[in-house]
Amino acid sequence: MISRNLILAALAAATFTAVPVQAEQGDWILRVGAANVDPDADSDQIDVAGLATLDGVDVDDNTQLGITITYMLTDIWAVELLAATPFEHDITVNGVGIDAGSTKHLPPTLTFMWYPMGGQESKFQPFVGAGINYTYFWDEEVDGELEAALGAITEPVTGSTDPVPADLDLDDSWGLSARAGFDYMFNDKWGVNASVWWIDIDTEATIQTELADVQFDVEIDPWVYMLGVSYRF
Ligand code: NI
Repeated sequence: MISRNLILAALAAATFTAVPVQAEQGDWILRVGAANVDPDADSDQIDVAGLATLDGVDVDDNTQLGITITYMLTDIWAVELLAATPFEHDITVNGVGIDAGSTKHLPPTLTFMWYPMGGQESKFQPFVGAGINYTYFWDEEVDGELEAALGAITEPVTGSTDPVPADLDLDDSWGLSARAGFDYMFNDKWGVNASVWWIDIDTEATIQTELADVQFDVEIDPWVYMLGVSYRF
């Protein structure tokens, strides 16, 4: 009976002391959670020095720790910065299914956000936004499978099927982004969030070998999904 009374008392306290749950001017919202970058890759074909044409590349998805920090400029307008631990993606050659290599990247994204229910007493706070992304690639690596394939392709020139050592370079990308999601606040400080970005990330890839440099464009254009905890202060 005591525990039942305690629960009832706690429920009553929660009901009657609940503070209005709303985003308002001057608030900061920190979100931490799992962020999945899922590329919708569209790649040019790869012309290997006139000797062969490969079907372009595909880029797999990767999940890291995502962090966003939002500042409410007014009750309904805000700016948000997306940060994360570095994403690492495997790259495969389309059609032939060989591993091309991998890359790491960080896609910091600054978004101008609209909270249509900002300033209203609601636990549910949806948002939409548009912004700008900068994506920095580093630690690009070429897989031995691609070097072996280059060896086979270049045999008419080199007279050997030995693997051709190669380096990969991906240009940095600036692009626009779109964003939508919501916070569901349990109280004045804590809640959960679910959201998505679409980011226009386009890069020029260069495969460098002693024989030739091969360049091709890759549109990565990922969907980024995030689920996490929200903290307002
Ligand atoms: Ni694009």
